[in-house]
Amino acid sequence: MKIDVLTLFPAMFAGPLDESIIKRAREAGRLELTLQNLRDYAHDRHKTVDDRPFGGGPGMLLKPEPIFEAVENLARENTRVILLSPAGRRFDQAIARELAAQEHLLMVCGHYEGFDERVREQLADDELSIGDYVLTNGALPVMVIVDAITRLLPGVLGDDESAREDSFSQGLLEYPQYTRPAEFRGMKVPEVLLSGNHADIARWRAEQAHLRTRERRPDLLSETDNL
Ligand SMILES: C[S@@+](CC[C@H](N)C(=O)[O-])C[C@H]1O[C@@H](n2cnc3c(N)ncnc32)[C@H](O)[C@@H]1O
Repeated sequence: MKIDVLTLFPAMFAGPLDESIIKRAREAGRLELTLQNLRDYAHDRHKTVDDRPFGGGPGMLLKPEPIFEAVENLARENTRVILLSPAGRRFDQAIARELAAQEHLLMVCGHYEGFDERVREQLADDELSIGDYVLTNGALPVMVIVDAITRLLPGVLGDDESAREDSFSQGLLEYPQYTRPAEFRGMKVPEVLLSGNHADIARWRAEQAHLRTRERRPDLLSETDNL
């Protein structure tokens, strides 16, 4: 999978995307990630990418010209152009799965007060938010989304790190997990997990996942399930 990120702050990405599983995925060629500096597409002497909003009001907006030029330069036929915006649809595990199946993503980070509306109207295939709060720019949201997508790409997670039973992958939160020792400071691991009976263990885990979801995130359960 190829992901281009259009940003004013490429240096912010050093570190989070150069460690651990993402680093391995990049080295193995499963994820080809390229940072594109939006300023490279501004051609005046000051490399201006922003301007004041028509009609007045606080802050600056990203101008359309550099973003249009960048997207037209980087997008291919199979590219999905995604704007990062608090007003976008809320990113979740289902969207991560949807994006992991794409060939090429072009993720466009906002800054200041965001984008000129024509960028949304003409260029964006999708607009994503990572939650109901406002960050200073789109770099952190892109890193969150790239991380969530990368671990779903085929061959990225080993057996030890399988995503199959992660929270949200079956519409439920994950069941409680334990490792050795079987007793720690008087706290015992549930007997069933030590029993070696795989059917009983699977049943216990399914029950626990339902209980935990009902208790903490009833919104994830379907209406019929909730009755
Ligand atoms: C300060 S924010 C702009 C907020 C904008 N004025 C609004 O009220 O929707 C600057 C940029 O950060 C990014 N950003 C901030 N919060 C975000 C979030 N929750 N999800 C996705 N992107 C976000 C977007 O790219 C946005 O254009």
